[in-house]
Amino acid sequence: MKIGIIGAGNIGGNLTRRLTALGHDVRVANSRGPETLRELAEETGATPVRAEEAAEGAQVVVVTVPLKAVPDLPAGLLDGAAEGAAVIDTGNYYPRERDGRIAAIEDEGRTESAWTEQHLGHPVIKAFNGTYAQDILDRHRPAGAPDRLALPVAGDDEAAKRTVRELIDELGFDTVDAGAIADSWRQQPGTPVYGLREGEAAVRKALREATPERPADFRG
Ligand SMILES: NC(=O)c1ccc[n+]([C@@H]2O[C@H](COP(=O)([O-])OP(=O)(O)OC[C@H]3O[C@@H](n4cnc5c(N)ncnc54)[C@H](OP(=O)(O)O)[C@@H]3O)[C@@H](O)[C@H]2O)c1
Repeated sequence: MKIGIIGAGNIGGNLTRRLTALGHDVRVANSRGPETLRELAEETGATPVRAEEAAEGAQVVVVTVPLKAVPDLPAGLLDGAAEGAAVIDTGNYYPRERDGRIAAIEDEGRTESAWTEQHLGHPVIKAFNGTYAQDILDRHRPAGAPDRLALPVAGDDEAAKRTVRELIDELGFDTVDAGAIADSWRQQPGTPVYGLREGEAAVRKALREATPERPADFRG
């Protein structure tokens, strides 16, 4: 599958490693330009590109940059993606440590992914946001393994969600349908499922037990 990854840090780098190992055709971009991604490209066989080129022809695009960087992404970022492409949003809002206060998220009660999809001008599928980057490399397991982890996946586009869930299964994790983007507060930072390393049943339970109020540590 053709996959574009925008952001080559902890999450983007490890997704590049695993997705290329599985035989996918990966283009990867960061903010500083493809020449700074030579090492990752040599290690993985991914094609380093400018952010504007990352989505070209891709059936899946992963946007994995700090939340505050989303508005800085080039306009038309996803224009060249394949028809019906699934856009994965791994983002989290860390107002105190990284992102600064974003009024639209805190005051208007919008989910982080709803804010991101508005900036991208494209629906997103929220996945990996509560997954430790290192687990992408170290904790994948074959289907049916008793210690296989499950990841919540939220989104409004059912076909795109299915594509993403199948890809995550291929990456070695189970998934739980966490509902629509409007419900995705259930997997945001500070919720019971955030960072949870458990299987499907525990992930379902944690999603059910979430409460909508944003915890103080995650308010700006
Ligand atoms: N780290 C984790 O374990 C983890 C787990 C789950 C979710 N997340 C979330 O996933 C997102 C990414 O996290 P991360 O830890 O992978 O971040 P990170 O290590 O800081 O890497 C961020 C990447 O985004 C790139 N970037 C920043 N601004 C950009 C722009 N305008 N255009 C193109 N690329 C840009 C950076 O490129 P340059 O280096 O060239 O600036 C870098 O490659 C965050 O929202 C984070 O909260 C992280």
